[in-house]
Amino acid sequence: MRILNFGSLNLDIVFDVDHIAREGETIASSRREVLIGGKGLNQSIALSRAGAEVYHAGAVGVDGAVLVQALKDAGVHTRYVQKVEGPSGQAVIQLAADGQNTIITHMGANGCISKAFIDEVLSDFTRGDLLILQNEISNVPYAIERASRSGIQIAINLAPITPPVFEYPLDLVDILIVNETEGAALAEENGESGYESILSKLHQRFPHMLIVLTVGKDGVLCCDRGQSYRYGVYRVPVIDSTGAGDTFSGFFIAYLTRGSSVPEALEYASCAGGIAVTKKGAAACIPTRDEVEAFRRENTVSYI
Ligand code: RIB
Repeated sequence: MRILNFGSLNLDIVFDVDHIAREGETIASSRREVLIGGKGLNQSIALSRAGAEVYHAGAVGVDGAVLVQALKDAGVHTRYVQKVEGPSGQAVIQLAADGQNTIITHMGANGCISKAFIDEVLSDFTRGDLLILQNEISNVPYAIERASRSGIQIAINLAPITPPVFEYPLDLVDILIVNETEGAALAEENGESGYESILSKLHQRFPHMLIVLTVGKDGVLCCDRGQSYRYGVYRVPVIDSTGAGDTFSGFFIAYLTRGSSVPEALEYASCAGGIAVTKKGAAACIPTRDEVEAFRRENTVSYI
């Protein structure tokens, strides 16, 4: 099985702030950095650090050499990353003192993924291969349909959730990874009836799917064609939660494709996410497999 991640590459402009700016408020940042990011790029690096061989497809702008180099440095194949006119994707991130964030993205080059380019890349992949998607590039629904027609398995991390998502052909997807906000929106729940209810509604709607619902400080719930699993969290100091979800997704898929059971993949992905929040930066925070193994030996998971 070959793994293709068709996803965004962003320059993350990170502003350290005391607290997230409220509506109408102007605040000063104590530090500004431009870091490597994008949910697609972060997940490719996580997959590779978890030991998977991964091909990244996407687009960068004239300022994107640093993004391609970051993928190469992590051992990701970059032959399907296009260079287009204009700027690369960007994210403006407020990083608060408690490690929480807000993110505003601008698609830039990520919005230049055409149906023709998707056809061209997917023609190199075949039945039994795996396509990984997030929701930060253009023509995601087309990529799902095109991959499905070729018998390619599809995993999607449906982030960020946007109005068009409700029209995506999600019944063609094999693995769905969402957080509680995305899951509640997709399940048409307000979240008040609890995580199990969200998961159960998603399972009713997509009974064939492996569904992963990450629920922040409460860990993760999962339903694999009717079989349910839960995994807790590691109590660690949170420095920056940016990229922790991408780290989790990349490790989860990498371990599954390397033959781990669902509970084992959840455990390793949770360890990787637990390390990611203790470091700054979306891509810079992603641990190696050895670091994850060591963390797993030295830490105990807790359940609320
Ligand atoms: O998930 C974190 C990522 O979301 C950031 O790197 C940012 O670029 C946005 O895509």
